[in-house]
Amino acid sequence: MTKKNNVFQLSVVKENRERLKKAAALELSPIELVKKEYFELVIKTLLSALKCKDDYTWGHSLRVAYFCVSVGQEMGFSEAEIYELEVSALFHDIGKIGVPDSVLLKPSRLTDEEFSEMKLHPSKSYEILQDFPIFQDMAINAKYHHERYDGRGYPEGLKGEDIPLYSRIILISDTFDAMTSTRPYRKGLPFEVAFAELREFAGTQFDPYIVEKFISCMTKEQSKNEDTFNLQVIEGNFKKDAA
Ligand SMILES: [Fe+2]
Repeated sequence: MTKKNNVFQLSVVKENRERLKKAAALELSPIELVKKEYFELVIKTLLSALKCKDDYTWGHSLRVAYFCVSVGQEMGFSEAEIYELEVSALFHDIGKIGVPDSVLLKPSRLTDEEFSEMKLHPSKSYEILQDFPIFQDMAINAKYHHERYDGRGYPEGLKGEDIPLYSRIILISDTFDAMTSTRPYRKGLPFEVAFAELREFAGTQFDPYIVEKFISCMTKEQSKNEDTFNLQVIEGNFKKDAA
C-alpha cells in the first residue's frame, strides 16, 4: 500500500468516526445520515443553479425559508415538519430558472403576456422537483404557493384549506419578503406597514389564522435586533435584508 493510500484510509476512518458521532446525536443510523447528507447536497446544488440565474431570487428564497421556519415554530410544528417546510420554502421559486431573463429581471411593469409567462414558475418548480421521490411533498408545496385563500390564485384556483398548509405559509412569507426587502430601485417597507398590508388581505389572499401567527412571530424576531439568520439545510450566516 502506498503512503498516499494510507493517508486516504486514515481520513476515511476519521470521517466515519465523526459520522457515527453525528448520527448518534441526530438519532439516525449512519446510512440515514449519509442519505441526509446527499439529500442536502442536492438541495445546495439546485440552489446554486438558482443563484447563478438570479442572485436576488436566491436570497429571497433563503429569507422566505427563515420566515417559514419562524412561523412553523410559532405554530408548534415538530422538527420534521419544520424541516420539510424549510426545504419547501427554499425551493418555492426554483422554477424561476425556467423564466426568461427578459421577464424575470425586467425592472419595470410586466405586460400581460410577460405576466402569464411569470405565472408558470410554480408549476415549473413542481416539474423540476417531482421526479426525485424524496422531494415530492416539497414539489406540491412549491406548486401551490401562489394559490389565494379565496380561490382566485394560480395555477389551479384552489381555495381555503384545500391549499396545502405549507403553501399557505410560504405565500405569506413570500409576500412579506417582497414588501420588506430593499431593491436597487426602492427601499423595503417597514415591518409595520407590511403587517397592515397582510391584515388587509387576510381572508381574501391569505389564510387569516396564519397571518396573525406570522405577525406575532415576526414582531418577536424584529425585537431580537439581529442582522443575520441561519438555516438548518444551508450553512452560513445570511443577511436579513437584500440591500
Ligand atoms: Fe413565487
